[in-house]
Amino acid sequence: MTLSLQEQIKKALDLLNKKYLNSPHEKRLNHIMGVAETAKSLAKKYEIDEDRAYLAGLMHDYYRYEDINEMSELLDDEEIKICEEFPILYHNFASAEAYLKLIGNDKEIYEAIKYHTFGKPNMTKLQEIILISDYIEPSRVYKDCIKCRCLVERDLFYTAIYESTKHTIDFVLNEGKNIHPYQYEVLNCYKEKMLDDLLLIIKEALNKVRAQEVKIYETKETSPFYDYIIISTINNTRSSEAIKSYLEDYIIDTPFNIRSTEGEGSSWLLIDLNNVILSIFTKEERDRLDIDKLYSNLRIKESF
Ligand SMILES: [Fe+2]
Repeated sequence: MTLSLQEQIKKALDLLNKKYLNSPHEKRLNHIMGVAETAKSLAKKYEIDEDRAYLAGLMHDYYRYEDINEMSELLDDEEIKICEEFPILYHNFASAEAYLKLIGNDKEIYEAIKYHTFGKPNMTKLQEIILISDYIEPSRVYKDCIKCRCLVERDLFYTAIYESTKHTIDFVLNEGKNIHPYQYEVLNCYKEKMLDDLLLIIKEALNKVRAQEVKIYETKETSPFYDYIIISTINNTRSSEAIKSYLEDYIIDTPFNIRSTEGEGSSWLLIDLNNVILSIFTKEERDRLDIDKLYSNLRIKESF
């Protein structure tokens, strides 16, 4: 008989208490509850089902300290082969199987548990949330974890996944161990996705000074240097200075940086943010240069 989601949560809590309370690993329960609560609040923020995120968080480390032989009994030959090369994955795979065996049959939750350490290509929001919650839950006090927690709090969600993956890869390389191929795939995927976070920061800066006729052109396919070119119009050069200083302040403690600026105090301020070029014009200058015509062959991602 299939249990309701609330019954599944209750059963998961009972099983966890039975396994961890008054055991030598009781502290793990703090971490597990931290992940479940963090996942729940992120699910709320990103408008996905909070209970499913909470349940995935609860079960993500159901197996953690068991003997490898015990965990292997739950896995198939192919999974065991992978775990032999990456032993940390025994607990991921075994916890995912435990979820199926003891709790429910939601494939998305199963995979969120199974890939919660390294992530995987094409993660759903729930799976992204479990991955990052495991890294940033409140009992994690490492510098890199705190840094990523701050990124998530500042709505730089994809950037946090990129940074956490990068830190994990650096850590594993320092230990002289192998990197799982999914880790590189996740790193590359979120290197691109975190540009959405950068666009959000830039849009916020432009909105603050009520910039007009903003156009975000996509140049990934047409330029080897930039992914986006943004053009905008402001009323006076003070506004362009305000945009620049907002960006400078906001990108502190993020992987983004301003590579260069040109035209400060003039009618055309250009800010080079590596993958994104932001041009801020006065109306007269934009008309004089007929800049919109120049970019008319580019695809517009967004305009406002
Ligand atoms: Fe964990």
